[in-house]
Amino acid sequence: LVAGIDSSTQSCKVVVRDAESGELVRQGRAAHPDGTEVHPDAWWAALGEAIDQAGGLDDVAAASVAGQQHGMVTLDEAGEVVRPALLWNDTRSAGAAAELIDDLGGGDAGRQAWVDAVGIVPVASFTLTKLRWLARTEPDNAARAAAVCLPHDWLTWKLAGAPGIDAVKTDRSDASGTLYWSAAADAYRPDLLELGFGRALITPEVLGPTGRAGSLPSGAALGPGAGDNAAAGLGAGALPGDVVISIGTSGTVFVSADVAPKDPSGTVAGFADTTGRFLPIVVTLNAARVLDAAAKLLGVGHDELSALALSAPAGADGLVLVPYLEGERTPNRPDATGAIHGLTLRTSDPAHLARAAVEGMLCALADGLDALVRHGAQARRVVLVGGGARSEAVRRIAPALFGLPVLVPPPGEYVADGAARQAAWVALGSDTPPTWASATPEVYEDTPVPLIREQYAAARDAVIDRRPT
Ligand code: XUL
Repeated sequence: LVAGIDSSTQSCKVVVRDAESGELVRQGRAAHPDGTEVHPDAWWAALGEAIDQAGGLDDVAAASVAGQQHGMVTLDEAGEVVRPALLWNDTRSAGAAAELIDDLGGGDAGRQAWVDAVGIVPVASFTLTKLRWLARTEPDNAARAAAVCLPHDWLTWKLAGAPGIDAVKTDRSDASGTLYWSAAADAYRPDLLELGFGRALITPEVLGPTGRAGSLPSGAALGPGAGDNAAAGLGAGALPGDVVISIGTSGTVFVSADVAPKDPSGTVAGFADTTGRFLPIVVTLNAARVLDAAAKLLGVGHDELSALALSAPAGADGLVLVPYLEGERTPNRPDATGAIHGLTLRTSDPAHLARAAVEGMLCALADGLDALVRHGAQARRVVLVGGGARSEAVRRIAPALFGLPVLVPPPGEYVADGAARQAAWVALGSDTPPTWASATPEVYEDTPVPLIREQYAAARDAVIDRRPT
């Protein structure tokens, strides 16, 4: 048996599977506080609860932890957490991100310099911007920090018995979202960490795909773990040419690739994957919660929202919802707000608004898909996962906007499953991850409707970048 863990923005999930067949044996789940700033102890408590619910880990041969990416976990000399973690969705370090671009020459030259150095362009999500914010805003906390790591690194280290701050480990996929590790060079850039934070910090050793990050008290191996997107790619069994689009708290669009792309616009991030390859990815801040917000606005549940959206015409007669409810990261518009365009007497009804919400959220992801293709991704079909994929309207409307067949695997814990598959790879010592049978997906197809993308693009570009204070 092996265990896979997904510590996400809102909860912790544990799956226990048979290492060879992949059969699901037990599972557990526990919620923890969400938001943009959370104390890691809350993740640890939820992990303990989820493990208990899954019947414990005493009989597993290996376990791996996947988790939300980028969150800044700072540790003092004694291994105590210095302050609550600032998470990937916290935008208070947007100013620090802009300063880091200025530090390397500013404007296009600065962005190009970052891409050349680490394959990504600073935005508020990435860890180094948070470290600069800490150094500027909380000098006392910054002075106490001796080491920095990511959410999944910290949980793996805790499971290993918190053996000292020099013993924290990470993996390539999560290291590649920090701004101080280069996926292409497979190396840290301590100079950039110092540039951002003002001095050196201890960083976790970066393990390869089957590296060992420590042991559980039972002696079971702890795998390197992964960022949640890379783990989902492994868990969903994506094949070459499959673009995975995940509609969760964040919206992500990614493929597996031989080389890390270099996109100075910052739209496509050049992350690493869990197998020694790369994971070009586009990430939006506004995904499943756009549907939550629309349901709340209309005073309906999710099934009714879906039925309403499907009852309105494609393109909602010109009503467009731009979904920048939390500001946006791709495009990098942290101060943007959501907007509704094209309101007329004809479009002022719940069905049109529901349709516009589903289409707006999908158009933002379709923009990401186009960017991946511009940067060389092969896109044969889309594999749609995440909570948002449970909406029938999302599944039926997606093919017309993505312009590709859309495969929807049965709802599942793809991030935890990816971690479990990695753990099985570690336990079995095989050259490649074990092949596990996967359930047959539903397939949705439609002809593309460019008009919806065009009316979305016009509204998107008209959105005002000013958040209410
Ligand atoms: C990836 C990202 C999000 C988080 C969500 O760059 O910021 O997908 O990993 O958990």
